[in-house]
Amino acid sequence: MRSSSSSGSALVALAALLAAAFFPAVLASPVSLLARSTNSTASPVAHVRNGTLHGLSLASFSQEAFLGIPYAQPPVGELRLRRPRALESGFDGGQLDAKAYSPICPGIGSDNWGYEQSEDCLTINVLRPAGTTAEDRLPVAFWIYGGGFSQGGSADRRYNASWVVHRSIEMGKPIMFVSINYRVSALGFLHANELRAEGNLNLGLYDQRLALHWVQENIAAFGGDPRRVTLWGESAGGVSIAHHLLAYGLTSTPLFHGAIIESAHAGTVAFPSPETDQPRFEVFANATGCAGSDGGVLECVRGLDLDVLNQTATAEGRWVPVVDGDLIASYPSDALNARKFVPVPLLIGANTDEGSAFGSKGLNSTSDFAAAIAARWPQMQNSTIERLLELYPNDPSVGCPYGTGDGVLPSGTHDKRSNSLWGDVMYHFGRRWMAQLFAEADQPVFSYRYNQPAENATVLLGTAHFAEVASVFSNPLPTQNPLGSRPGDAELARLMTSQWISFIHDGTPNNHGVDGAPTWPDYRDEPSNYLYSRKEWEVERDDYRQEQLAFLRTLGWELQQ
Ligand SMILES: *[C@@H]1O[C@H](CO)[C@@H](O)[C@H](O)[C@H]1NC(C)=O
Ligand SMILES: *[C@@H]1O[C@H](CO)[C@@H](O)[C@H](O)[C@H]1NC(C)=O
Ligand SMILES: *[C@@H]1O[C@H](CO)[C@@H](O)[C@H](O)[C@H]1NC(C)=O
Ligand SMILES: *[C@@H]1O[C@H](CO)[C@@H](O)[C@H](O)[C@H]1NC(C)=O
Ligand SMILES: *[C@@H]1O[C@H](CO)[C@@H](O)[C@H](O)[C@H]1NC(C)=O
Ligand SMILES: *[C@@H]1O[C@H](CO)[C@@H](O)[C@H](O)[C@H]1NC(C)=O
Ligand SMILES: *[C@@H]1O[C@H](CO)[C@@H](O)[C@H](O)[C@H]1NC(C)=O
Ligand SMILES: *[C@@H]1O[C@H](CO)[C@@H](O)[C@H](O)[C@H]1NC(C)=O
Repeated sequence: MRSSSSSGSALVALAALLAAAFFPAVLASPVSLLARSTNSTASPVAHVRNGTLHGLSLASFSQEAFLGIPYAQPPVGELRLRRPRALESGFDGGQLDAKAYSPICPGIGSDNWGYEQSEDCLTINVLRPAGTTAEDRLPVAFWIYGGGFSQGGSADRRYNASWVVHRSIEMGKPIMFVSINYRVSALGFLHANELRAEGNLNLGLYDQRLALHWVQENIAAFGGDPRRVTLWGESAGGVSIAHHLLAYGLTSTPLFHGAIIESAHAGTVAFPSPETDQPRFEVFANATGCAGSDGGVLECVRGLDLDVLNQTATAEGRWVPVVDGDLIASYPSDALNARKFVPVPLLIGANTDEGSAFGSKGLNSTSDFAAAIAARWPQMQNSTIERLLELYPNDPSVGCPYGTGDGVLPSGTHDKRSNSLWGDVMYHFGRRWMAQLFAEADQPVFSYRYNQPAENATVLLGTAHFAEVASVFSNPLPTQNPLGSRPGDAELARLMTSQWISFIHDGTPNNHGVDGAPTWPDYRDEPSNYLYSRKEWEVERDDYRQEQLAFLRTLGWELQQ
């Protein structure tokens, strides 16, 4: 069933075995769907600037993959904690074997478990229909993983796009799927005055940017169209895309032409200030013995053993993007208010109960709730907190998880309030704001709300963060976030995958070829959301929690530190 493996690990092999059982349902007779005749066993070849790539034929999908292609010099040794640099020399002997995913970047958390990690991780993968030639000029989807900027990798089996590309061939709208690794955690986002002085902040975002340049220079060699690149990401991946949309205002070279943002906006992850992060850096510098080192603290950190750096930086908690005055020129709320963004077609959405996994828990009174807000947003004014207590009242029937009536959560009688507020701040208000602004800038905008709990989600979670990923990828593999097997799950996945492909291919989700789905209105004509569940596909007016979301929009920096 499965051709040669990327890593050959027992885990992957077992997964492939299990996956085989799912194929018949999702992938009916792949061979009959071949877009064009091809020799599926030959190793595909592509000639990029740095040399010749020898890829992998995925015969059962009738696809070809070029995996683990370096798009930067390995950010190790002297290059650790510096902005990425393009390769200065071609591949050894002009050839590179591109048949396996590279190790992923070192990170903290379950997304990294089970994958080989290495600092030498800045690679890109290209997946295309078999037989694609340079003349085809296929639209390109450029996937950026999430993971809170702390974890994640392009080899993650939940982001296996073989079913997406397969469906694109079936629809007669073939696309190419590109994914990358970028640095995360301390190696990607360590924050210190010393790094600021060097211009070496937000490194993971600059990695993404360099990879986008790589696509501009090389994707035509695979048969992709550099003028039709759609960014696509979830969570921190979506946050990243929001930053690229705001980056450098309107002045940057167009590196992309459309954007799909799932469960994110530019303010989803708050920005730490130098005042809060410098002491953390100093604790780290002390713990590693690098503080006061002769050649300078950064030179010492660049020479540290990865394990030492990892353990000590990790002990200092999470490291995330900061306002650097360059790629992130200002707080996103300022950029949005000034309407400084790259105007491109936008598909953006959020899940109903985003806040269920994030809201502060264990709250049993209004004063508990107020204290939790003050702790989470220390710079928030008291008058703002007072207003939030009114807007998120002690009424479980309007709290999150939504639609669960008067019952309270076992973790705390006021927890539905904080779930609701956290979800709105991190996801919903920014989603609506960006939809409105891009529509006002006369760009096609398509907004959605995903309202389908995962198959094993509890009532406490509802339709939580990440739930839509399995549907969008139509991915039947038994992963942490498996596609459900209930009536309607497969159809829902088919619809969403097809709409995403249609957007990537045509700039509108409506050429999806699935029967029985209502038309997705352009936000310019009708501010509405496509509302997804396995039982019903509907369109709703985008007016839920109108007052709350409008108020959050007025807060600006109060929410962003
Ligand atoms: C997706 O998973 C299937 C089953 O394990 C595998 O055959 C295929 O190579 C994977 N595709 C990619 C792009 O990794
Ligand atoms: C496919 O390519 C391989 C390697 O180039 C070659 O040996 C084989 O004969 C080809 N098969 C067909 C059906 O063309
Ligand atoms: C390698 O490829 C990169 C990305 O396209 C390009 O910027 C660089 O000039 C190439 N270098 C060499 C020596 O081929
Ligand atoms: C870094 O440290 C974390 C937390 O101790 C651990 O989970 C992770 O595997 C480490 N990563 C590497 C690359 O050593
Ligand atoms: C770092 O170590 C120096 C010297 O021991 C000490 O004075 C300083 O307070 C320490 N800083 C932090 C943040 O721990
Ligand atoms: C609120 O109640 C829950 C459930 O009884 C309890 O676990 C939690 O500790 C309480 N929180 C506070 C702040 O007392
Ligand atoms: C805001 O409220 C807190 C907690 O009630 C209080 O300690 C603080 O003094 C108040 N700040 C102002 C400026 O009123
Ligand atoms: C759902 O099942 C997957 C696979 O067994 C598991 O990894 C995941 O943690 C489960 N999710 C919940 C919310 O229990």
